[in-house]
Amino acid sequence: MAVSLTVNGRERMLDIDSDTPLLWVIRDELGLKGTKFGCGMGLCGACTVHLNGHPVRSCSTPVELADGGDVKTIEGLSQDGNLHPLQKAWVEHGVPQCGYCQSGQIMSAAHLLQHNDAPSRDDIVAALSGNLCRCGTYSRIVAAVESVVG
Ligand code: FES
Repeated sequence: MAVSLTVNGRERMLDIDSDTPLLWVIRDELGLKGTKFGCGMGLCGACTVHLNGHPVRSCSTPVELADGGDVKTIEGLSQDGNLHPLQKAWVEHGVPQCGYCQSGQIMSAAHLLQHNDAPSRDDIVAALSGNLCRCGTYSRIVAAVESVVG
C-alpha cells in the first residue's frame, strides 16, 4: 500500500504493508529511534507519538490508519535545535533512570500541555497514568511537568 505521512513536518511516502505498526515505520523505515518498543500490546505507553494531535500507541496503530496524517515523535518536539521546555525540565530534574519509557512520557505530557496550560497535579497524574515506568520515576516526572507549568 502507498502511504503518505507527514512526520515532524516532513512529508514521507512509503510503499508498505497496510497493517505494519506505525512504530516500526517510525523506527525502521524512517530511522527515528526515540520512540520505543515496550510491550507491543498498547499497554505501557513507551511507543507514544502524536497522530493528528492526539497521543496514540504506535505499536498498535496500523500504518493505514495514519495514512494522510500528521505524526509527531519525540524528535519533533525540539525546535531549531532548542529542546522543548519539557525536555529541558526532564534534564533539570534528572527524571530518567534507565530512560526507556521517557520519550513516551514526554509525548503524553506535551499533549496535556497543548490542551491545558495550567494542569493540576491530579491532571498531570491522570494524563500520564497510561505511561508505565519500571524504574518508578513518577514523582520526578510530575515535578518536571509542574516546573514547566510554573
Ligand atoms: Fe506500545 Fe507498550 S510498546 S504501548
